[in-house]
Amino acid sequence: MTSTLDINGKAVAVKADPQTPLLWVLRDELGLTGTKFGCGMAQCGACTVHVNGEPMRSCVTPIAALAGARIATIESLGGQHPLQQAWVKHDVPQCGYCQSGQIMSAAALLAQTKSPSDEDIDNAMSGNICRCGTYQRIRAAIKDAAGLTGAPMVAADAAKPAASNEVDDEIAAASGSTGREKGQ
Ligand code: FES
Ligand code: FES
Repeated sequence: MTSTLDINGKAVAVKADPQTPLLWVLRDELGLTGTKFGCGMAQCGACTVHVNGEPMRSCVTPIAALAGARIATIESLGGQHPLQQAWVKHDVPQCGYCQSGQIMSAAALLAQTKSPSDEDIDNAMSGNICRCGTYQRIRAAIKDAAGLTGAPMVAADAAKPAASNEVDDEIAAASGSTGREKGQ
């Protein structure tokens, strides 16, 4: 069956079963591999895209649910988005695997909250897991991109919240992956 999706501002015809998760269509049919597969069960945030401006887990979103919706992937940011510049400035990524999902969640936050507090950031980013523990650099980069003053440069990785470790263990058990591979 052919569906038409609005992806990054373009109408795209996709031949796939309507129950196919958006993530498979993005990566395997359209070659938009910036969006990553992590857990496949809405637990890690690696697959985050925007649907009508809201962050959404593409691994559990069937394309049948997206008729008429505006879908945006990390490719839509173009590489010079203020968040992407701040990510470079703060040297945020470590292995990098989670980072496109992190940036998409952060982009949705800044689109709605121009000057987010630490609490705003924590709430918006709580569903995005980073096994490398880049959380403090992510927070600093978001504040920098928001134009807030005093965004500190974070030199060392901070310890992950305990809850994140538990979720990571579940993800690793479910996927059989370390999640640290590059180029996937
Ligand atoms: S791959 Fe979708 S939330 Fe983990
Ligand atoms: S940088 Fe987040 S998982 Fe490695």
